[in-house]
Amino acid sequence: MNTVILGLQWGDEGKGKLVALLARDHEIIVRFQGGANAGHTVFIEGQEHVFHLVPSGLHHPEKVGVLGPGVVVDLEVLAQEVEALSRMGRPLEGRLWIDARAHLVMPYHRAEDGWEEELRGGIGSTRRGIGPTYRDLYARFGLRAGDLLHPDTLYRKLKKSLEWNNQVLAARYGKPPFQIQDMMDLLTTWAERFRPMITDTLTLLREWDRRDRAILLEGAQGSLLDIFLGTYPYVTSSHTVVGGALAGLGLPPQRLHRIVGVTKAYTTRVGRGPFPTELHDETGQRLRELGGEYGATTGRPRRCGWLDLVALRYTAWLNGVTELAITKVDVLSGFPEIRVATAYRLKGAETRWFPATLEDLEQAEPVYEELPAWPTPLVDRNTLHPQLEAYLGFLEAHLGMPVRLVSYGPQTHEVVLRSPA
Ligand code: GDP
Ligand code: IMO
Ligand code: MG
Repeated sequence: MNTVILGLQWGDEGKGKLVALLARDHEIIVRFQGGANAGHTVFIEGQEHVFHLVPSGLHHPEKVGVLGPGVVVDLEVLAQEVEALSRMGRPLEGRLWIDARAHLVMPYHRAEDGWEEELRGGIGSTRRGIGPTYRDLYARFGLRAGDLLHPDTLYRKLKKSLEWNNQVLAARYGKPPFQIQDMMDLLTTWAERFRPMITDTLTLLREWDRRDRAILLEGAQGSLLDIFLGTYPYVTSSHTVVGGALAGLGLPPQRLHRIVGVTKAYTTRVGRGPFPTELHDETGQRLRELGGEYGATTGRPRRCGWLDLVALRYTAWLNGVTELAITKVDVLSGFPEIRVATAYRLKGAETRWFPATLEDLEQAEPVYEELPAWPTPLVDRNTLHPQLEAYLGFLEAHLGMPVRLVSYGPQTHEVVLRSPA
C-alpha cells in the first residue's frame, strides 16, 4: 500500500506531522519535489524538529529514505540535517538515497534568489535557491547529483552552468562572479561526502515495489503553490500536485493507492500572492498567535484567514484525494464563531470554482457561512466534540470526500482516526 501526502493549500498544512504518523505503516519515505524551501515540523521524543530535505519520519531508525529525481538538493543543508540527526543517534548512512537525476542547488542559485528578492521585492521566496535551480534544470544546463560520480566531465558541466549564472549575476545585480575553482572544490568535497548516497533510486524503487514494501510519498509546499496549477506567479517552481509525485519519483500511477490531502482547519500563506479569505483584523492576529503561525524555514509571520472551500474543492479534486486530513482543529476551539468560504462573488455573480487568473482571484470576495465553534476538540480520548463533527460533516458534504484524520495538537499522537460515515 503506497500513500502520498499532499498539502491542499499554500503549504504548512501539517504534512510533516502526518508523515511522521503514517511512517509507522510504511517502510520507505520519499521526497519527490521541492527542496530545502520545505520546513516540516515533527516532534521527536517531545522535542520539536524541523525537516527541510531529509524525509520526515527518518528519525525512526529502521526507515529508509529517498530524495527522488524531482527534488532539488542543497547538499550544504543536507549535510547539516544529516549531522543533526546523527547527533540524535539516528545516523542516515546506508538508509538515505539521493537519486542521480536530482539537481543540485549551488551557492550562486541561493545568492541570486536573495538578490532577486531584494531587487524587485520578489514574490517572497524562501531564498533557498529553488527558482534559479529549477530554471537551470529546464534550461538543460543544471548540475545533477549523478554528475558528482563523474569527475572527468564535471568541470565542463560546471563551466557551462557557471558562465550563464555569472553573466546574470553581473548584468542584473552588479555582483562579482563566483570563481570556478571555488565551485569545483565545493563539488569535490560534496562528491567525497555524498558519493555513497547517490544512486539510481529507480532500481531500488522497482525492487521495493515488486516486494510490496510500503512507500510513503511526502509532498512539500501545497497545491496552490504548484507551478502550473497554483496562483502563478506567486508559486514555487515545482509540481506540488499528485502528478508531480509520479513524475518526481518515477512511480507508475496504478502503484499509488492512497492520496491523503492535508488542510488546516483555517488557511495560511507565507510570501506574497492572492489570498481571498485573508483576515487583516484581530481575528487573523488571533489565529496567528494561537496557531503559532510563523514560518518553519524562514520564521516569517504567516498570513492567516478562514478556511476556503472554493480553493479546497479545486485542489482536492485535481489531486484525486481519497481522504482528507484536517489539522489544527484545536486552534479554532474557543473562537466565538467560525467562518468558512463556500463560494466567491466575482463580477456580480457567485462562483464555486477557483479562478484561473490572478486578476480574478484578486477581485474575488468570499461568501461565508457561519458555524458554531467547539469549546474543545475532544470529549474523550477518541471522541470528537459534536460541533467539530458537524464542521467535518459540512466539509465532507461540500468536498464530496471523507475526512479520515483529525489532528488536534502538534505531537504525533494527537490525532483521531475517523471511521467511514
Ligand atoms: P508542513 O510544512 O506542512 O509540514 O507544516 P509546518 O511544520 O510548516 O507547520 C505546521 C505547524 O503546525 C507546525 O508547527 C506543527 O508542529 C504544527 N501542527 C501540526 N498539526 C497541528 C495540530 O493539529 N495542532 C496544532 N496546534 N499544531 C499543529
Ligand atoms: P512546506 O513544505 C509554505 C512559498 C514561499 C513563496 C513561494 C516561492 O513547509 O509546506 P520558493 O522559495 O519555493 O521559491 O518560494 O512559495 N513556499 C512555501 N510556503 N510552505 C512551504 O513549504 C513553502 N515553500 C515555498 O513563501 O511564497
Ligand atoms: Mg512548512
